[in-house]
Amino acid sequence: MQCGVLGGELVEEVDEAEEEEVKMVVGMGSYGGKVRVVTGDPWEEIMLLWGIQQPTLSKHNAFVHQSSLQLRLDACGRSLSILQSPSSLCGLAELLWCSQLVELGVLYVLGWISCSGFCPPCWVFVNRNVFKDKGTPGVTGAVMWDSGVVLGKFLEHAVESGMISLRGKKVVELGSGCGLVGCIAALLGAQVILTDLPDRLRLLKKNVEANLYGDVRGSATVNELIWGDQLDLELITPLPDYVIGSDVIYSEGAVMDLLATLIRLCEAQTTIFLAGELRNDAVLEYFLDSAMKEFNIGRVDQSQWHPDYCTPRVVIYVLVKK
Ligand SMILES: C[S@@+](CC[C@H](N)C(=O)[O-])C[C@H]1O[C@@H](n2cnc3c(N)ncnc32)[C@H](O)[C@@H]1O
Repeated sequence: MQCGVLGGELVEEVDEAEEEEVKMVVGMGSYGGKVRVVTGDPWEEIMLLWGIQQPTLSKHNAFVHQSSLQLRLDACGRSLSILQSPSSLCGLAELLWCSQLVELGVLYVLGWISCSGFCPPCWVFVNRNVFKDKGTPGVTGAVMWDSGVVLGKFLEHAVESGMISLRGKKVVELGSGCGLVGCIAALLGAQVILTDLPDRLRLLKKNVEANLYGDVRGSATVNELIWGDQLDLELITPLPDYVIGSDVIYSEGAVMDLLATLIRLCEAQTTIFLAGELRNDAVLEYFLDSAMKEFNIGRVDQSQWHPDYCTPRVVIYVLVKK
């Protein structure tokens, strides 16, 4: 008798848990796959990500080499070549990058710098602006991050598996950096506007020109967009079908401006894909906490990513306006 009652309660509890699970895994926006809804206290999401995925235990920069001048990646039937600014001062690549900046300012010869066995000693020219804007190690926007590769390959995989259609769709990319994700979206048929801070556009334009040649299904233009600022008409008329961004949630100081831009750029029909690096839990928690007031947020399970481009150091969210 007692066993029966206990058994009954257990079954009920299991049913409730299953129901809860069904409620948590839903479709969102124009994405055809199921996502895990992020609700309640964002701290739980953070604990889940860091506790289960354990990002710090896996390889950092699994798909990118920030100290090399170029990143090569096969996508959409092409071999893409993304020029990046090397983030360390120890290579010939840095010398080449700095020499490109001769026209921008005065060059200072620092002297012989010997690098840890990988390359012979070489003259390194250092421009004041390089340190200020571009040349500090891991500088934002001038080198690729894993989340960009993951998001680009995710979009390709999602199109190939019929989870989204980008053909003829308007896509705005925020914080495009070197431009890989936007280029992939254009190759998948989207009309893409890649955006970034004014001083990041030179490298971005170079990469777009170098990779989107010949027969491209979609198109790409490059625009300045500073988060939080008023938006150019071409960005909002009409409002985009998709907004995409990789590694744009990385600075607490930029979260509110980023959100303000997302709010202005999106209507209920707009689907946002954001890929993030799991490096700073406080920044991600702050973003989720603030974004949940305006957007429904879902996490895309790694089983839906491109199978060759999965890493526990990255997360992909879908956001749709409430
Ligand atoms: C960490 S990088 C990521 C770049 C690229 N999406 C990737 O995955 O490789 C962050 C990008 O956001 C841009 N960014 C940062 N703050 C910004 C702001 N206030 N307005 C516009 N873009 C910004 C940076 O210039 C940079 O390109």
